[in-house]
Amino acid sequence: MSKLSFPNGFLWGTATASYQIEGAWQEDGKGESIWDRFAHTPGKILDGSTGDVACDHYHRWPEDVALMKSLGLQAYRFSIAWPRILPEGVGSVNQKGVDFYSRLVDALLEAGIVPFVTLYHWDLPQAIQDRGGWPTRFAAEAFVEYVDVITRALGDRVKHWITHNEPWCSSLLSHQIGEHAPGWKDWRAGLAAAHHILLSHGWAVPVIRRNSPNAEVGITLNFTVAVAAERTPENLNAVRLFDGYFNRWFVDPLYGRRYPADMVEAYQKAGILSPAGLDFVQDGDMDAIAAYTDFLGVNYYSRSVVKAGQGENAWPVEDAEHATLERTDMGWEVYPQGLYDLLCRLHFEYQPARIYITENGASYADGPGADGRVHDERRIRYLRSHFLAAYKAIAAGVPLAGYFVWSFMDNFEWAKGYTQRFGIVWVDYATQARIPKDSAYWFQQVIADNAVE
Ligand code: FCB
Repeated sequence: MSKLSFPNGFLWGTATASYQIEGAWQEDGKGESIWDRFAHTPGKILDGSTGDVACDHYHRWPEDVALMKSLGLQAYRFSIAWPRILPEGVGSVNQKGVDFYSRLVDALLEAGIVPFVTLYHWDLPQAIQDRGGWPTRFAAEAFVEYVDVITRALGDRVKHWITHNEPWCSSLLSHQIGEHAPGWKDWRAGLAAAHHILLSHGWAVPVIRRNSPNAEVGITLNFTVAVAAERTPENLNAVRLFDGYFNRWFVDPLYGRRYPADMVEAYQKAGILSPAGLDFVQDGDMDAIAAYTDFLGVNYYSRSVVKAGQGENAWPVEDAEHATLERTDMGWEVYPQGLYDLLCRLHFEYQPARIYITENGASYADGPGADGRVHDERRIRYLRSHFLAAYKAIAAGVPLAGYFVWSFMDNFEWAKGYTQRFGIVWVDYATQARIPKDSAYWFQQVIADNAVE
């Protein structure tokens, strides 16, 4: 088979997040985060585990950077733990926390790896939560203070900034569904949280530009591709609502379209928003949120098969019966066509200046065999099919500039604890040994060729 080449300069990397890999949860002056609190609350994490130690990356980062270099990775997306920088969320700065990331950035640059820094990947300082958290405007103001501190410190060397990772998760999954920290089940609070997260993004953009000249600034959203198995009018309406809830509520305001009117109406009809509507939105907020960005980060894993709920104004429900595609160990259907459709849709409907896939990958449990190697063929197949979808999207005109595999190594998978392994590098949690899986060597070849076979 012939090789399909990616454009010159296309960036290949992997991604991680602070709470999922660092450990050292109480070291060197770090403050408590909502994930420390949540994971220590019995019943919240599937296997009862925490991120207290995780991959011990806080101590093993030189070894991890060396491994990235040996695999030929060109870029590395990681996140900064806000409570390492400002243990109380605002106010006094913890220099040891700043130094940790500063050394990491230097080591990456030294290894020829481009750092992509996510400023918020869910570990809100508990002190901010104690003052109301994301459902309050105060959290957005505090975020800007934190961003100012850290971008002043790293802005000379870091030139790719992602304000937030997956606002749907840090707002609705966390405040409406309650599966992630802080574990609330209050839909209105979830929408208020979403607004303050988006607002904090918009406010942070000019601060980052000031502190980090010539940097690219963007935000990462997670998207799903909503589909109905049986295309009845009711089910197609459910698709519209689910897409509005998950995708459009976030991407529309970022691209100047404000909150989707059909969704405001649907939330009011369902009694989620009062007739007063979006009472947490103040004058000027929507313009701030629509600040120009240099790229959109896209996280894509799977699709959502939905159908209409029972009764008038009922919310869409998952249609498990018709979700029949092959699944990863996370239970997510493998649907590479969705990545192609999504990238084309985002390009044609929103015209972001450029797009990076900031996360895509798969959880498969395969571990070391008798030969000591990890033969994770299914992960190679998953990645290959999604790389091909990205290739097709580029051919269709999508300005895709890079691709980050989730994840560099196995890690703490939030509410699922250590039961899921997304890494292209195996982590033996007893010894902290790292073993590159076959997918890592396969990816190494893709990068070297800048092509997929
Ligand atoms: C995304 C998160 C990331 C990881 C993957 C599997 O939602 O951003 O931290 O947990 O899912």
